[in-house]
Amino acid sequence: MGPSRIAKTGLVAATAWLILQLPAAALPLGELARAAQRAGIDVGVAVDTNLNAARQAIAASEFTSTTVENRLKWGSLSPAQGVYDFSGADALVDQAEQNGQRIRGHTLFWDRLNGMPGWLEADVAGATDPVAHLTQLMQTHAATVVGRYAGRLAQWDVVNEPLAQLLPTMDPESLFFQTLGESYLDVAFHAAHAADPTAQLFLNETLTEVPTRFDALLQIAQGMLDRAAPLHGIGLQGHFLLGPPDRTQLQSQLEAVAAMGLAVELTEVDISLNHFLGDPDPLAAQARAYADVFGACVAVTACTGVTVWGVDDGDTWLDTFALTAAGAPHRPLLFDAQGLPKPAYHAAVAALPEPSLGALLLLGGAALRRASAQGRARAESDRQRS
Ligand code: G3I
Repeated sequence: MGPSRIAKTGLVAATAWLILQLPAAALPLGELARAAQRAGIDVGVAVDTNLNAARQAIAASEFTSTTVENRLKWGSLSPAQGVYDFSGADALVDQAEQNGQRIRGHTLFWDRLNGMPGWLEADVAGATDPVAHLTQLMQTHAATVVGRYAGRLAQWDVVNEPLAQLLPTMDPESLFFQTLGESYLDVAFHAAHAADPTAQLFLNETLTEVPTRFDALLQIAQGMLDRAAPLHGIGLQGHFLLGPPDRTQLQSQLEAVAAMGLAVELTEVDISLNHFLGDPDPLAAQARAYADVFGACVAVTACTGVTVWGVDDGDTWLDTFALTAAGAPHRPLLFDAQGLPKPAYHAAVAALPEPSLGALLLLGGAALRRASAQGRARAESDRQRS
């Protein structure tokens, strides 16, 4: 190798080294992800294995966090007892890691739809000791799934929707509740914690805009804390099915969770445009609602993230789910069906402010380390792709 070749190689290596040292903001991140990093929160998106290339690109560049929308649900993972198919979940987790994103596991125990494996109910019913049997099945499931991704998934929605669908009580229809009572929550969280002591463990609930449901959720959470269950955070889903978010109510809810010493996130946000059809400018009204959600989160230090439930308006559960499909199209997300940013997107960016000097000092190294780790992961993924 001649001297000019050596000098050139050295220059390339030095440049590559410099790029790897840069925070993620210097790499081709979207405006939303950059604003999230500056504000010191995660902005996430739920993804499934069916995303086309355009949606994958948006999910990779505009968000700092990924939630596995369906592929980690017990019913999706385990078609038959003792059988696990991790192919979809593995692909999504690998992809998110290549994107340098934080990952939320959703969800370990959910007693509805594909949260429940088809074989579970009959298996528990046929057991001589259903309590011991279900406890053991839950512990094995947590060890298998949380353990598989230990150290890689930052958060888990360990239990999803413990409340009845409309009432502010534990769900009496739940197989877990029917068999183990409220202590199923403790079984779930202890098992998840044993499988990955580094993961932040969340209780996730829907329709918490209804005050009695929110109060019931906090009462359940407080009971768990009193019993020393390893509960670390509360997830407020944020589908806002009944109407637009109320900023004052939302912020005071986030503060109430913070006062319990727990983290809190908006975990599944979408806001139907149909709430605003009477407004002269529905898209602008929807944008204000998104600003309220992001603004409430950044106003409360314990609120560490906002995740939207889908990439764009062309692929939202609201348009296909039996109970909500009648209102389609809901157009509830930050990008339109063509993948273009909506007013809601720009409002979300604007609601994520530069942190104050004090906040910067508090966030300090942690945020910088994360930004730089994301930068390195993105550079590595770019390198592998090229
Ligand atoms: O994977 C199967 C596929 O093999 C099959 O061919 C196809 C035929 O219908 O179904 C596929 O499963 C579907 C799955 O999504 C993956 O696409 C299920 O039928 C469908 O019910 C399931 O819907 C999901 C729903 O949860 C139920 O699990 C939605 O995508 C997902 O957005 C939604 O997310 C929930 C959160 O987990 C909890 N909070 C509420 C939120 C919205 O309902």
